[in-house]
Amino acid sequence: MDPTRSKHHTTKMAIPTISDDPSYRPGLEGVQACRSSICHVDGQAGKLEYRGIDVKNLAEHSSFEETIYLLLYNHLPVERELNQLNILSQKLRRLPAPVLNPIEGFPAGIHPLIAMQALIALLQGDDYYADDISNPHHNLRRAVSLISKASTMVAAIERHRHGEQALPPVSKYSHAENFLFMLTGEPPHECAIKAMDLLLILHAEHGMNNSTFTARVIGSTNASIYSSISGAVGALSGFLHGGANERVVRMLYSIGDPENVEAFVEERLSIKKKIMGIGHRVYKVKDPRATILQGILPDLIEQCSGEEVKRLYNIALRLEEVVTEKLNKKDLYPNVDFYSGIVMEALGIASDLFTAIFAMSRVAGWCAHWLEQVSANRLFRPKLLYMGDHNRPYIQIKDR
Ligand SMILES: CC(C)(COP(=O)(O)OP(=O)(O)OC[C@H]1O[C@@H](n2cnc3c(N)ncnc32)[C@H](O)[C@@H]1OP(=O)(O)O)[C@@H](O)C(=O)NCCC(=O)NCCS
Repeated sequence: MDPTRSKHHTTKMAIPTISDDPSYRPGLEGVQACRSSICHVDGQAGKLEYRGIDVKNLAEHSSFEETIYLLLYNHLPVERELNQLNILSQKLRRLPAPVLNPIEGFPAGIHPLIAMQALIALLQGDDYYADDISNPHHNLRRAVSLISKASTMVAAIERHRHGEQALPPVSKYSHAENFLFMLTGEPPHECAIKAMDLLLILHAEHGMNNSTFTARVIGSTNASIYSSISGAVGALSGFLHGGANERVVRMLYSIGDPENVEAFVEERLSIKKKIMGIGHRVYKVKDPRATILQGILPDLIEQCSGEEVKRLYNIALRLEEVVTEKLNKKDLYPNVDFYSGIVMEALGIASDLFTAIFAMSRVAGWCAHWLEQVSANRLFRPKLLYMGDHNRPYIQIKDR
């Protein structure tokens, strides 16, 4: 019992309930908080558009570089524009020493995503005028710089974990190829480059998800792009958002065999635990990105990996079947994380690097949102529905 209540009178306001105040929306679900022309997610139709272009078309015909251009500049580039972006991006890939060197001192157990969050925040120190966000051209250059440096960071963090020196970026390579090269120092296989490029395209943007909202909230205070994007990375780390892909792969390994799937699902549901990679706040059908990634897996496994990943894929297929049968009444289907983890597993990437790769791609969308936010800003400042007491007396410690 609260001791202040037992001995002292407290004036209490009538406590408002949720039904008394319809403006109260836990998790801001369904609330439209800003205007945007960057991305549209149709959760009923299972359609995702970047700047009005279906992501299926981008996945089939485009590249991550072109997707970056589209997100930042709001149109598909002509050849000259794409070349200009590539030249700038390649020039900006390298990390300055004061940002690269601190990796050496990071605690051994740090998660790669959190290491990345720290490095992005450090980049602010390399931009003397970071706080001046008044020039749209400077802001665009900062966005290109962050997108270009993100993959260099992830590769450097990964190599450091294995006691290896970071490799310098190779400017003649595409974003995807360069990243894979910087991870291992080996020229990557063509099918691995294509799969990585696809992962980058598909993760680049997804409307007002939690981390994008975070970037916009921080940006709305006129904080720098570095603070905003570093905050967004933190938001992505939770398993309700970006952290699910690595958990999916761990879950598939723990199931072990397609024959065990049914019992696994029964058990999870009986103890009211969620199945990773399933369900989405917006999609009420299968996530279109999951369909696209699933589509490349048979060939990717054939060309780039072996029996182990094939077994994981077969477990995933069976899991999708059982979940769809048992949970379709709740509109629960695979989301992007369900198959993206297997794609990365097929590429031989360590599972705790998956979310950092997601972030390395999503930096493009976050930057587009930050640019949109600061170009027509309104400070985010929602209200609380206060449920606490009023006029409680302050009681001296000896009397409590
Ligand atoms: C993504 C997610 C957070 C969306 O959640 P949400 O819109 O808030 O939906 P809720 O958590 O309120 O769930 C609604 C119902 O579906 C069930 N449900 C949702 N996701 C489920 C899952 N993955 N496995 C089993 N049941 C699930 C909930 O238990 C709840 O059931 P109830 O109404 O009987 O209580 C949720 O589906 C989830 O946690 N998925 C697993 C993690 C994941 O894959 N995250 C990556 C997202 S891209």
